[in-house]
Amino acid sequence: MQPKLFKVLVGKEIRDDFNDSIQIFSPINNQIIGSIPRVKNKYQIDKICHEAKEAFAIYKNTSFESRKNKLLNFCELLNKNWDEISNLIVQEIAKSKRDAIKEIERTIDYIKLTIDEYEKMINKQPMIIDSNVHNIKGKTGKFYYEPLGVVLAISPFNYPLNLLMTKLAPALISGNVVVYKPATQGSCLGAFISLLLYESGFKNGEVSCVIGKGSEVGDWLIENSDINMITFTGSTSVGKRISQLNPLIPVSLELGGKDAAIVLKDADIAKTAANIVKGAFLYNGQRCTGIKRVLVDDKVAYKLVDAINYEINKLTVGSASEGNFDVTEMISANSIKYNLHLLLDALQKGALTDQNIRLINNNILAPIVLYNVNSNCKIYYEEQFGPVLPIISFKSIESAIEINNESEYGLQASIYTEDIELANKIAKSLDVVTVNINQSPSRGPDIFPFGGIKNSGKGMQGIKEAIISMNRIKGVIEND
Ligand code: NAP
Ligand code: G3P
Repeated sequence: MQPKLFKVLVGKEIRDDFNDSIQIFSPINNQIIGSIPRVKNKYQIDKICHEAKEAFAIYKNTSFESRKNKLLNFCELLNKNWDEISNLIVQEIAKSKRDAIKEIERTIDYIKLTIDEYEKMINKQPMIIDSNVHNIKGKTGKFYYEPLGVVLAISPFNYPLNLLMTKLAPALISGNVVVYKPATQGSCLGAFISLLLYESGFKNGEVSCVIGKGSEVGDWLIENSDINMITFTGSTSVGKRISQLNPLIPVSLELGGKDAAIVLKDADIAKTAANIVKGAFLYNGQRCTGIKRVLVDDKVAYKLVDAINYEINKLTVGSASEGNFDVTEMISANSIKYNLHLLLDALQKGALTDQNIRLINNNILAPIVLYNVNSNCKIYYEEQFGPVLPIISFKSIESAIEINNESEYGLQASIYTEDIELANKIAKSLDVVTVNINQSPSRGPDIFPFGGIKNSGKGMQGIKEAIISMNRIKGVIEND
């Protein structure tokens, strides 16, 4: 199968050559999807970032209307190219066509909401602080939002369009320019998106797509002195490296998670089990907000296990290229190997399961639930990012809170109970950013603030928070 030769937008140029290229293979059948020009040395990175800085000097003075129109043009191109984009997502990351189309729709909504929220922000400018606001004598403070400059965006494989545009849209609407590096598994899409951005009107160096392995080009990008802000979504280890390599510039880090579903003894077991299975196994558990562990009152533990086993049997399992299955191919052999390692470790340490361990075509791991999981098991602590769900019993609500909070992660949690007042009370004690009551966690609705604490991240995302993270305040003080 001849690979498609992708071109990529780097500043003002659409490049088909960088004296090197990277070949991308599908996790579905290991067939080549495409070949893309890739950056291979620090000189190229420095040149890209320097030219982005030069482009910023012009772009920051463009009108809101012109920036808005370019992003709306881009939304139209996403709509027009939905079939090619969704096919690329299916091939590159083995997401079902149904979920790939949902990702496109969600991204269009996200961009339009970002434009609206930014317009509301600038229409309230300048923010005035003077004697009418406080008993300030002889001064009038006028405060404006200003773009930061060159925004470096690094995105993960699991939402190759959405988690890229949740970074690029707020940056570009605010007057920043962007240098972005998509995940290697997602680079064909990332390159294709750069061409749509060019066609939308971003032709003056506002957008540069850097194709290259994070382990090879990452440090050069992160440490580059022309970068003014970094927005990253991915693993905690890389997030920590970003903070270490460039500690002074503003960063937004959306990292790992170990979201707990806390099931109290009065929960509706059937409804709870259905919701937990959806929350744990959507896109094979490869979501940061996926349910990564269940903490259940030991009085109802076995009822819940039976109900979850029943729900798991309803999940459809198959190739992303052959239909809209619930569970499809995993992103990589390493990911499968890691999940099997956690699974076998738990079984050797006393955990139990009622499913058979099934690896189909060597790349689809059938969903599996472990119960009787104890604190000697690695999956009690580690983020599996796969279709393996550990169930841990607790004897009291206090111990459930303690188990939740001892995790190194602090993204989201969910509580299942009929007692909403009690759920709100427990929520206040959970060391996470968001608690969902009787519903599995999610990043959406995108207008909600979203973020993590501890090893789950730094800074807040969400439509408004992302815009604010890519702007700073400029104050002008007039004195009587
Ligand atoms: P990852 O391995 O950290 O990769 C994320 C991005 O970072 C990719 O573009 C990757 O490029 C790049 N990267 C890798 N090493 C780098 C380095 N040394 N310097 C700079 N960039 C580097 O994470 P992933 O496997 O894509 O995603 C899984 C993890 O991300 C999980 O922990 C998940 O919880 C987390 N995640 C969090 C959220 C959230 O919203 N909080 C959302 C999605 C995923 P390459 O692909 O070339 O390696
Ligand atoms: O892992 C991606 C993270 O952003 C989750 O998004 O919408 O599936 O909760 P969502």
